[in-house]
Amino acid sequence: MSNQDLQTRDSTRRTFAIISHPDAGKTTITEQLLLFGGVVRQAGTVKARKTGNFAKSDWMEIEQKRGISVTSSVMQFDYGGKRINILDTPGHADFSEDTYRTLMAVDSAVMVIDSAKGIEPQTKKLFQICKMRGIPIFTFMNKLDRDGRDPMDLIDELETVLGVQAYPMNWPIGMGKTLEGIFDRYNHRVELYTHAQKSRMVKLDDDNNPIDDPKLAEDDQFKETRDSIDLLDMAGNQFDEAKIATGDLTPVFFGSALVNFGVKTFFDAYLKYAPAPSAHKTQSGDVVEPDENQFSGFVFKIQANMNPNHRDRIAFVRICSGEFEKGMDVNLYRTQKKLRLSNVTEFMANTRENVKTAVAGDIIGLYDTGNFQIGDTIYTGKKPVEFEKLPQFTPELFVRVSAKNVMKQKSFHKGINQLVQEGAVQLYMSYTTNDYILGAVGQLQFEVFQFRMKNEYNSDVNMEPMGHKIARWVEPDQLDEKMSSSRNLLVKDRAGQPLFLFENEFAMRWFKQKYPDVTLTAKL
Ligand code: G4P
Repeated sequence: MSNQDLQTRDSTRRTFAIISHPDAGKTTITEQLLLFGGVVRQAGTVKARKTGNFAKSDWMEIEQKRGISVTSSVMQFDYGGKRINILDTPGHADFSEDTYRTLMAVDSAVMVIDSAKGIEPQTKKLFQICKMRGIPIFTFMNKLDRDGRDPMDLIDELETVLGVQAYPMNWPIGMGKTLEGIFDRYNHRVELYTHAQKSRMVKLDDDNNPIDDPKLAEDDQFKETRDSIDLLDMAGNQFDEAKIATGDLTPVFFGSALVNFGVKTFFDAYLKYAPAPSAHKTQSGDVVEPDENQFSGFVFKIQANMNPNHRDRIAFVRICSGEFEKGMDVNLYRTQKKLRLSNVTEFMANTRENVKTAVAGDIIGLYDTGNFQIGDTIYTGKKPVEFEKLPQFTPELFVRVSAKNVMKQKSFHKGINQLVQEGAVQLYMSYTTNDYILGAVGQLQFEVFQFRMKNEYNSDVNMEPMGHKIARWVEPDQLDEKMSSSRNLLVKDRAGQPLFLFENEFAMRWFKQKYPDVTLTAKL
């Protein structure tokens, strides 16, 4: 494929994640998008999968119980001349480091907020990772068909709590039972809500008067909305494409995923501003552009045992440049081994299909027999490529772990080492006794760990919960072992770096006062 062709094809890819707190409506909006893409024909398909009423044939057992499916990890479809890749970021108890790492593989994010609740903890965490990456973030204020909070309050909260400028692309006319529609600032029109899942568009003149709709012109709620728009025009942020591109300004869309109101308007505008696949930095400081001919990509997630009969694992690869072709040989940077990529899958909404070609921005799933680790780079050509290391995330939950059967230490150690290398959990050791402590950002990681230890390594493990801790690293030369106590436990990470696990904020403040010269640092 020529460079020009690659450029043309790359530019059609839009790869993003939807971030939200559980119950804000991520599944519902995903489903609407899949409907637009013609991938599902009926609302409820994704929902059914979430609640577990869907084909379960090849899910990992633990995931079956929770109703997460691999096929919903990545959803690909075509819409509006673009090829869309949506990467799932589970929230709630399913929250894990995978969720964070998935955000390393997207070019933009859609943040769904429940307009009755505003910003909730999970949204905040996920937002911060996106902000750190400097990717564009688009906000959908959901559930407009229900009474929610004052829109001005919601915008204000975005700016104060998340520290991002907000530009409302539209503004509600009424809310809940009195919802009449939205004032679409971007398209300069009113989108009326007709309850029949069909919007009616009303054009506006230069003074924001509805053209050919005298009833609307006299409507009190519409007048109120117009006042709000005047205020926003005068005192609000300016629409600024450059700021959207760097994630400093988030365009905000109001709507309702459930009644499919405002979703299409949102998605069409989103696709205008969502970025095409971006360049990726390498460890040596170079940049790999998506239109380079040399194929490259990195592994951001490994999912194991999706089919218990085959014991397979899938390594999810984000393609950064070039074109993947079935059967191609690639180099794995870490081991400098050559691998043939023959068993590769791509992800449609409810099927896994064998992929023949894929380009930058696409996600492919490589059937893995233990070759890959999270963060691995694969590439073709003579020039070695190693993408920047994926960041480590500060774990929040900890357990002490030991083998149930002391005679089976060997398989216990083998299992732990492999699972830690794979990035399933993080491993720490108490400073003096060398007890094993596992750290994670979500409870699911421990459950998966326990399940896989038993199923893949035949090792039953004891896990003693230590609860939430605040992990902070310290410089070895500032450290005195006497600083360790039950409220700030001293441990070391895999690289031997010391860190304290603080019981809570209070314990950390107390420590800082007692040892003002010790610098405490968090990972992400
Ligand atoms: P999630 O993936 O972010 O966890 O949220 P999900 O889409 O599952 O939505 C959570 C709940 O909120 C669901 O209700 C869903 O129907 C509802 N919901 C989503 N979008 C809207 C909206 O625009 N308006 C209103 N009124 N509700 C919305 P549920 O009762 O938990 O589930 P179900 O009984 O509908 O299946």
